[in-house]
Amino acid sequence: PKLGILGSGSGSNCQSIHDAIRSGALKAEIAVVMSDNPDAYILERARSWGVPAEVIDCAGFKTKFPEESQEAVAARLKEYGVDCVCLAGFMRLVKSPLLQAFPSRIVNIHPSLLPAFPGLHAWEQAVHAGAEESGCTVHYVDGGMDTGPILGQARVPVLPGDTPESLHARIQVEEHRLYPAMIARVLETLE
Ligand code: GRF
Repeated sequence: PKLGILGSGSGSNCQSIHDAIRSGALKAEIAVVMSDNPDAYILERARSWGVPAEVIDCAGFKTKFPEESQEAVAARLKEYGVDCVCLAGFMRLVKSPLLQAFPSRIVNIHPSLLPAFPGLHAWEQAVHAGAEESGCTVHYVDGGMDTGPILGQARVPVLPGDTPESLHARIQVEEHRLYPAMIARVLETLE
């Protein structure tokens, strides 16, 4: 099966997917990586693997993901024969028409134990709320902000003296294990 990965930043989760494929743990192929941020390191990573890396044109909108852009992305993903779309640090809200083009085939990773702390800077929210525990969640995307049926979670403690950064680093270790494993599970359902 073919994956299309959408990200806006560093792409460490995309890296973990690539690594899981290379090790044989994840039976899939990354067909294309797309980013709304032309400078995102996730695109560099894809190029270094020889994977097509494409910039999403968001028509000058800073945070909005305009409908025409979503249509264009859906068409492009179809051209690449993508079976499953993985959001990996993608900072725009996916809605139809992308959702309609890939029903129950778009997943996201979020750095909290959803439904706690949806939205931006979830690790910072957890530290500021004095949570004793946080983690990460892989879920199907349904058009809401970090809503949609949960596929799996991994937990980490919030330690005394944690900063948002130290907590995020601990969460990311778990993200890199959880995401490839949950993608494998989604792909099984598509067979
Ligand atoms: C991750 O923490 C992910 O949970 C969130 O954005 C971050 C992306 O990190 N949605 P990276 O680009 O995969 O390194």
